[in-house]
Amino acid sequence: MHFKHFVAARVIAPVFALVQLHESIRSQPSKICPPVDGTLVINEYDLYSESADWDPVNCKLYISSIYNCSLTVYDPYTHTSNIVDLPGITNHGIFNYTEYHLDGVDYDARTGIMYIAAASTNAFTSTSSGDYSNANYTGNNRILKYDTRRDSLISDIDLAPIQAEYGKKTGNLTSGFQDMAEDTNGNSYVIGTFGNSIVKISTRTEMVSLWYYPKIYDITYGFGGIFSIGDMLVVSDTHTQSLVTFDTNADSPVPRVLHVQDMPPNYRPAMADGLFAPKKYGGKVALWSDDFNGTAIYGSSDGWRSARYLGLIPNDDPLAVGTFATATFEIEENIFVVATAFQFQLPQATKTSFPFIDITKKVDDIIKQSGILQAYH
Ligand SMILES: *[C@@H]1O[C@H](CO)[C@@H](O)[C@H](O)[C@H]1NC(C)=O
Ligand SMILES: *[C@@H]1O[C@H](CO)[C@@H](O)[C@H](O)[C@H]1NC(C)=O
Ligand SMILES: *[C@@H]1O[C@H](CO)[C@@H](O)[C@H](O)[C@H]1NC(C)=O
Ligand SMILES: *[C@@H]1O[C@H](CO)[C@@H](O)[C@H](O)[C@H]1NC(C)=O
Ligand SMILES: *[C@@H]1O[C@H](CO)[C@@H](O)[C@H](O)[C@H]1NC(C)=O
Repeated sequence: MHFKHFVAARVIAPVFALVQLHESIRSQPSKICPPVDGTLVINEYDLYSESADWDPVNCKLYISSIYNCSLTVYDPYTHTSNIVDLPGITNHGIFNYTEYHLDGVDYDARTGIMYIAAASTNAFTSTSSGDYSNANYTGNNRILKYDTRRDSLISDIDLAPIQAEYGKKTGNLTSGFQDMAEDTNGNSYVIGTFGNSIVKISTRTEMVSLWYYPKIYDITYGFGGIFSIGDMLVVSDTHTQSLVTFDTNADSPVPRVLHVQDMPPNYRPAMADGLFAPKKYGGKVALWSDDFNGTAIYGSSDGWRSARYLGLIPNDDPLAVGTFATATFEIEENIFVVATAFQFQLPQATKTSFPFIDITKKVDDIIKQSGILQAYH
């Protein structure tokens, strides 16, 4: 996920200094879309959403369908959607197996590009029991670029060469690419959940490179979500149960594991999935989707040199029963949870109704109570 650097129309005063700092960077103003208030229920056959991001220029929501592996472009004002097929990825009909999970969608405001991650299914299914003795990280992973200005798919990047390079450098395997964020030059960084790798896709040349790999290999589920603030990447990491930052301007990337303050004794993030910094909080707040526990809120008043745990919003909405909190996104002032109804055995049960839970007030209350927006350095 990606903190968007727009000219914010309704900036909360104490946040202004930080927002302005990052506005000095070349950026693209967003159109102001009408508000969308309250839980969204999208009635679409087998949508099974796993990730979503908002395009505030065309006022459309982009949703990845984890099993069909299609991209849904949803208009929340008319409640209509357009399903985009991804060649060689999208599934039709009833099926018992899918090569990919479409598990990440991320919008870059500077370029109007929507990045889409199609990760190897086997990487996730072979390890979902928590037993890693059958871990299978050999499958394909792809990143697609969709141009929201022209409504067309513009590239399809195969990450196999990167996986091979990782293998050569470490003697181990990486897979499960599922989230991305962009720096101020529009380069995109894609995290690999297994093997904690980061791939860089250079915006102009489209050169793809293995940007980061760890010195010590851990076969278990690690990096889950990513956002950027300026040229800093912030990643949620299940291994360290913390946030890890990287400077995209560094000659060689060095991970900085933040010590999270105020973590309550009865909470440890069980899983890192989507990580999102709503623009309404000027990059000071991160929403960590912890599949099992809901949406955890972290804050920083020093540009993510340090971080504080602020609270947890359990995934306990009646509409979300049996789902996992996998991601969050923002439409104007409102914040929504992607509540994923994982199907651990395919074929998937036929389902036509998918909720996106509005947690705006709950987040606002926790932020207000924390005083994080008033805090300076
Ligand atoms: C999923 O596939 C089924 C069968 O082709 C189709 O009817 C449905 O519209 C698809 N849904 C999405 C979100 O792709
Ligand atoms: C899926 O698996 C079930 C049970 O093994 C089988 O009956 C069914 O024919 C399979 N369907 C497809 C589309 O392969
Ligand atoms: C591992 O996954 C790949 C592709 O995802 C598949 O072709 C291969 O058969 C799997 N290996 C095992 C041992 O299941
Ligand atoms: C990673 O690779 C090293 C060297 O090839 C190997 O010794 C080790 O067992 C591997 N670790 C895991 C967790 O697979
Ligand atoms: C988080 O989820 C785990 C696994 O379901 C559970 O054991 C734990 O009690 C939860 N913690 C909180 C604080 O909700």
